[in-house]
This record gives sequence, structure tokens and C-alpha cells, in this order.
Amino acid sequence: MDRDEFGRLLRQHHMKEGWSYDEEFTPRPYWPEVPRNETAFHKWAWKTVKPVLEKGGEVVGLGHEEGSYDRRVVALCNPGLEPHYAATATLFADIQLLKEGEDAPSHHHTPCATRFVMEGQGWTSIEGDRATLTPGDIVHCGPAYWHDHRNEDAEDFFFLDVLDIPLLQYLGVSEWYFKYEDVSGDPKDVHHPLRPDRKDMRAYEQGWAVPGFELDDPRQYREIGHWPYADLRPLLDRVSAQQGSDVDDVLLRLRNVGSAGTVGPTVDICSQLLRPGCSTLEHRRTWATIFICVEGAGRITIDGVPHEFDLNDVFVVPGWAWRRWENPNSADCVVHSISDLALLERLGFARQQKKLADGSIEDSGWPAPPYVRTKPITTVP
Ligand SMILES: [Fe+2]
Repeated sequence: MDRDEFGRLLRQHHMKEGWSYDEEFTPRPYWPEVPRNETAFHKWAWKTVKPVLEKGGEVVGLGHEEGSYDRRVVALCNPGLEPHYAATATLFADIQLLKEGEDAPSHHHTPCATRFVMEGQGWTSIEGDRATLTPGDIVHCGPAYWHDHRNEDAEDFFFLDVLDIPLLQYLGVSEWYFKYEDVSGDPKDVHHPLRPDRKDMRAYEQGWAVPGFELDDPRQYREIGHWPYADLRPLLDRVSAQQGSDVDDVLLRLRNVGSAGTVGPTVDICSQLLRPGCSTLEHRRTWATIFICVEGAGRITIDGVPHEFDLNDVFVVPGWAWRRWENPNSADCVVHSISDLALLERLGFARQQKKLADGSIEDSGWPAPPYVRTKPITTVP
């Protein structure tokens, strides 16, 4: 029996070679020699995407009536990850449209969801607490909370949703529940009522101190957050007086006030100011990131290829791709971003490299014990 015949025999029994068997000694797909992933760089330009979404507003109804849907969302499918509904290996992204007077019924799911407001205004409510949303705002909803959205304005209301669906699907723990009427007992009542003692969600995410006792309603500090752009933007301005980062320029990592850690256990959310004239060092990271431009315009160069981006453009930067930021304009540029950095940090796989001015590479190494061996920061000539 030769190797080809043996290969066929293995496949008859749902087995495959676990070694490099060809003459070139090609590594098996699960033995990459550099951190590798299938996520591709892709940009969904707002000027192209918005008219497509508006057509969706004409052909898709919203609600629980016959022929309507629970959500009017268009999934952003990364070309490197087709046929999966995924923007990165772990994150799903869609753009949601609510037209004048429309509301999306209450539902809940185990994936967490972060929303980035693009155009128009409306509200989202999470088990009765409500955030009023305007462009540039970020709102986060943790797992398994009833939530719904509404547009009470004359203009269309667009926002980007990002959920850790691919990760939870991979883990076999993605679960969705759509029928609030089963809770309310009335088929027409598909919205969670507002809480009589409802809080302004901002209050929970902007505190500089947290209670030192068990809260009556601890979820407020752990799983829900609203970061209005009206509050984030002055904070970016304030820290922009600093020298900033040579790879990110001016970047804020949003924090979960309850844990003082990342917004969620799987997701890290940032807001980043690219000051006029800024040009960062080339760098790469093991986590893929979804970006949305919420003010101005800029340029990101990925593996040597420059990509211009404009207001409300959404783009994905793959893990371990070399990237460099520039703002060649005279006005500020602000991008928000979301990634699975929170998860990789917990697992010890958040590694970074940057190219220094002399051409050498500074490497963080694989960072965190006890899961992997710790290496010091090294400079490779
Ligand atoms: Fe949802």
C-alpha cells in the first residue's frame, strides 16, 4: 500500500494524516509557522452601503406581523470568512435600520451586543433602562438581557451592531429568544416595560468610584453601558494634550466600571483620535479589529496597501496584518473599534510587534503566564 492509497483508506474511516506527508513537507493547516487567520481586510464604504440599506427599508418590514422580521439588519460578511456570517473569526457585525416610528421588538440572546450609532437618533432599552442615542454613541448590552430599539425621529436611524456570535457558536452556547409576548402574555405586547426606577445608563459608566457593597441591581455595573459621544469626545480632547501612542496616536480603552476591566469578558472597545498630520509606526497585533470612523477621515495602510476611509465607513483589520495610521487632513479624525482583545488577554495570546524607526522590530512576545511561557520584550535587528 502506498501513501496515496493509505490516505484514501484513512478517509474511509473519517481520519486524515496528522503529519506533513508531501514531498515539500508542507505544514498541516493546524501547524502555521506564524499566527495565521482567515480574516481579510475589508471596508464597507458608507456611500456605497447606505443606499443598499435604504433599499432594505423598502422591501423588509419590521415587527411580529406576517411577512415582517424581528430585526432589519444587513450582515457584514468578511470575504475571507465566507460562507460564514462573520466580520472576524469571533465577531459578527451588521448594520441595522429603523425608519421613522419603527421599533424592533424585545428579544434576548447569549451573545453580547455593542452598538455604534451612525446616523439619526433613537433609543435602545435594556430590560427597562433606556439610552437615548445619537451619532458617535456606543452602547453595550451583556448576555441574555431583553432589549429593543426605536426610532421616534423623522430621519432614518442607522447603527452598527457587533456581537460575539461566531465565538459563541464555536463554543456551542449561542441561544436566542424572540418572543417577549410569551412573557407579557399579550401577542401585541412585544416590548419590555420601562423600569419605574430606571436609571440613566451613563451614570453607571462614568463613575470614578464603585460601591463597596453588594448592589441591589448589580447588572448595572457589569453588563450594560452607554458612552455618549458628547462625553467621549471632550475626554479625547483632554488626553490629546499628551504625546500619545506611536502606534495608535490618542486612544481610550473603554472600561467596565464594575470590574474595572474590559467592557465585556470577550470584547474590548476603544475610541481613538487621529490628530491632524499624525502618522504612526507600522505595527501588528494578534487580534482582528472592527473599526468605524465617527468623525473626519483618515488613511490606514495594511500590508503596504493604503486605504482611505471616511465618515461611517466600517473596516476590518485582520490579526497579524501590518498596519499604520495617518491623518493627512487638517481636521481631527475619530474612530471607534471593537475586538476580541479582552479574550486574548485572558488567554495570554495578545501579542504585538512594531517596526521602529531604525527598521528593527520590537516584539512583546506571547505575554501572559501561566498558560504560556513569558518572554521579555526584545528588539530584533
Ligand atoms: Fe439583539
